[in-house]
Formats: sequence, C-alpha cells, structure tokens
Amino acid sequence: MPSVLARVVTFTIDGIDPLPVWVEVDIRPGLPAFRIVGLADAAVRESRERVHAAILNSGFDFPARRITANLAPAHVRKVGPGFDAALAVGVLAASGQCPIEALERWAVFGELSLTGTLRGCPGVLAVAQGARRTGVAGLVVARERAPEAALVEGLEVAAVDDLRGLAAVLDGGDVPPPPPAAPSAGVARHEQPDLADVRGHEMPLRALEIAAAGGHNLLLEGPPGSGKTMLARRLPGLLPPLSRDEALEVTRIHSVAGAAHRGGLASARPFRAPHHTISPAGLVGGGRPPAPGEATLAHHGVLFLDELSEFSRPTLEALRQPVEDGEIVIVRGQQALRLPTRFMLVAATNPCPCGFAGSDRPCRCGELELMRHRRRLSGPLLDRIDLLVTVTRPSAAALAAAPCTSSEAVRERVLAARERQRARLAGTAARTNAQLDARLLRAHVRIGADARRALAQAYDRGGLSARGHDRVLRMARTVADLADRDAVGLEDVLHALALRAREGGDEAVAA
Ligand SMILES: Nc1ncnc2c1ncn2[C@@H]1O[C@H](COP(=O)(O)OP(=O)(O)OP(=O)(O)O)[C@@H](O)[C@H]1O
Ligand SMILES: [Mg+2]
Repeated sequence: MPSVLARVVTFTIDGIDPLPVWVEVDIRPGLPAFRIVGLADAAVRESRERVHAAILNSGFDFPARRITANLAPAHVRKVGPGFDAALAVGVLAASGQCPIEALERWAVFGELSLTGTLRGCPGVLAVAQGARRTGVAGLVVARERAPEAALVEGLEVAAVDDLRGLAAVLDGGDVPPPPPAAPSAGVARHEQPDLADVRGHEMPLRALEIAAAGGHNLLLEGPPGSGKTMLARRLPGLLPPLSRDEALEVTRIHSVAGAAHRGGLASARPFRAPHHTISPAGLVGGGRPPAPGEATLAHHGVLFLDELSEFSRPTLEALRQPVEDGEIVIVRGQQALRLPTRFMLVAATNPCPCGFAGSDRPCRCGELELMRHRRRLSGPLLDRIDLLVTVTRPSAAALAAAPCTSSEAVRERVLAARERQRARLAGTAARTNAQLDARLLRAHVRIGADARRALAQAYDRGGLSARGHDRVLRMARTVADLADRDAVGLEDVLHALALRAREGGDEAVAA
C-alpha cells in the first residue's frame, strides 16, 4: 500500500505573534511507530501519547503502521500543547477517517485530553489572527476559547468539545457557533476605584491629571500611608477608553500570557503592579521560550512600581529600553523578538528608608542610608520620569472634608486634552506630549515670548539639564492643552517647573 500524506495548518506562538505551522502526517507500511520530527519542544513530543489515547478513546482507529509527523517549517521552534488537535486530525485524514480536502478549509488548534476532550490553549486570539492571515476559511478550537477567536472578523469559528466534534466539522457537518462571550473581562470601568475616595492631596491630584492628559511618567514620593498607592491605582480610570485595535492587542497579549479575558474583549486599560522582588526577565520579558513580561502585560495601560527603591538595579536598568522605545527587543541566537511596551510608568517611593524625611515626623535615617537611598533612585530611569510629585500626609481637616473631584470629571478634561494632542500631532509618530522628542518639540510646540524667557532663565541658572529643558516644555504643553491654549504661556512653564521641584531634583526652581 502506498503512503498517504495529510497536511494540517496550525500555529505556534512566538512572543505574542502567531506563526503558521504545517503538520504533515505520512503513514506507510512498516512496524507500528509514531514519530514527531521538526524542532518540537518537550510538550509537543508528549503529544504522541495524548493523540494516541484520544484517537482510540474517541472511537477511531489508530493505524498500526509507521506514522511520521513532520512539523514545518523546520527552523521554527514549536512550543506548547496546542499541536495535539492538528496531529490527531492529520492521523485521521492520512488513514482515511476524515476527508483530506477539508484540511484546506480549516485550521485547528488545541490540546487533547486522553479521553479526546479538546482544551483551549493560551493565545487563541493570536492564532485566530494568524489563521485569518494564512487565508484558511475557518478555525476549529475548543468551545471555551471560541469567543476569543470570534473577535477576529472574516474568520469562521467552529466551537467543538472534543475530537469527535472536530472530525464532524471536517466531515462537512454543522458548524457549532462560538458561545456568546462572558461579560467583558478585566475590571469594568464602573468597578474601578474613583478619585472621589481621595481626600485633600490637591497637588498630587493635579499631577495625576497632567500625567494622564499627556501620557507622562510619574513618581510619587511620600511617607508611608500618605496615599501613594491609592493615587496610582486611580490612574487607569482617568485614561481614555481603549480603542478597538488597542483592546484587541491587550486581549491578545493577556491571552498569550494565559490570563484569558473570559472570552471577551479587554475593556479596561491594564494596571500591572509587580512586586519589587521581580527579576529583570519577569519585568521586561525573556526566558526560554521567551515570554512577555510585566512591561508588555502593561502595554496600553499602567505599569506601577511600588517601593521603587527596593527594585534591584539590574531590574530597573532593564526597564530603560522599553520605557524609551515603547518596545523591548529580546535577542536569541539569530532572531530578535519584539514585544510592545507602551505603558505609562508610575513609581512610588518613600523619601528615605524610614519613610519620614521631610514630613512632620522625625526621620531616623543615618547619612549613609540617606545617600544610598538617593543613589538608588537617581540615574537613568528617573531621567525618563517627567513628573516628580511629593505626597504629604493629608491633614485631619482634609480627611474629614468632601472629595475634591471625581474620576469622571478629570477624565473629561483628559479626553479633551488628548484630542488636542491628536489633532496637533497628526502625521507624526507621537500621539501624546510625553512622546515628543527634541525635534518634534521644536516643530510642534509654539511658545510665547515671556514663557520662552522664563524657561531660558531656569536653564541659565543651572537648575536644568538639556534633557530637563525639553521635559519642562513637554509638561508645559500638556498644562496648556488642559487649559485649551494653543501656545505655551508663562504660567504653563512655571507650572511645569513646579512639577519637577523635588528636593535634590535637578529642576528645582531656584528662589
Ligand atoms: N488622601 C487620602 N484620602 C483618603 N484616604 C487616604 C488618603 N491617604 C491615605 N488614605 C488611606 O490610607 C490607606 C493607605 O494608603 P496607601 O496605601 O495609598 O499609602 P502609601 O502612601 O502607598 O503607603 P506606603 O508607603 O506604606 O506604601 C488608603 O487605603 C486609604 O484608605
Ligand atoms: Mg504603598
């Protein structure tokens, strides 16, 4: 008997991107054997046992001949258990138990249990996007992950429970539609914490609004219990809602990382608050195979580093490139993997190890401790943070008073300011003032004569570095956008200078 070859399309995930993989199954006479070749990792090699059992337990025959499954292209590393479905279908088609022509129409993806149940795997949305690009008409996936695949337009999705259901679809049976997505995942907007919970804190609230409006990174410094974490958690609720494209990207990233959005589209901007013991690879991505880190999980949202001075130096160093470039490039061998990292960075820290320097309680730290603390905080990362804000303990009167504002009111002003930026920066690579480099600043920021003079004076006094000069201009542009002004005025520059006026900071306004 001649050999029969079946070819099934499935996908592997590289970082957060889908790569098509063709599973070619060849069955020929010979001693019974089942081999998988083509740069497969351990999970894929284990597939053999699952596929064998699943086929038999679903009532099909497992051919007692020589079976070779090749995963092509050979140079792509295949990772994870998502190949089970394709391998099983390949064996069924090559042994005449399912029509080979159907394999041109359908891509398949999922893990099989020994009983033949089809399980969803991380990254279904990415796989569906890949299937759409590859040009197959449809994708068969596990029912529980089918709503995620259905987010991709122009792709038919079959939601099946097991290998029998999968074979029935390929046989030309009815296509079981995906169940409706569960109410959208993440924290819905109305569940997000509100600024109305914050008492007092006029300056920090204003800073939070400016940061949200211009997309600026922010450092909150203050004694324990003064409300730094509380403020940071309220930032995502001030940002504009995710566009559909952004929501798809966020959902795809979180799906690959195994945090499924209960089948729905992400509705809230991510807020990631990794613990300070996190490793560099955990923060920016890496490992084997490379997986997205917290910086990528925070893409389009907020990355919050609480207790900034406790993070290790290498961890903070690793964050420089993603903060600067909006992406992280992980190089392995000949290939470079790019992961998006466009987040707003919010950091919080105590002013000193005991936490009370500069507050109304005495600081118990020694000179040396203070110096070490400062050194930890200074440096390249701090240079990429626009706003430095001191958070003081709210007074008893403030705690008892009515709230200053609500998230909704601030969000409205933020949206208007973002709209102004969008219009002004149309046709450039930047979308927010925070993304303005020196060239864009010169080209797109008009500044009044007296404002320019004030900025020049601050610079000449030596309080500003060249980078600090641009930073003040960026922030002043945002202050002006919030006030609906076309040109940056004197008050905007003074306001921006004050937002960096931190003890020891390089931009303190000299008296
Ligand atoms: N301005 C405020 N208005 C209302 N409640 C506040 C305010 N500041 C602090 N609180 C209350 O104190 C709690 C602790 O605040 P939070 O955790 O934000 O402090 P922190 O500055 O992050 O402290 P630490 O330095 O110890 O991390 C909050 O959950 C909140 O209940
Ligand atoms: Mg805190």
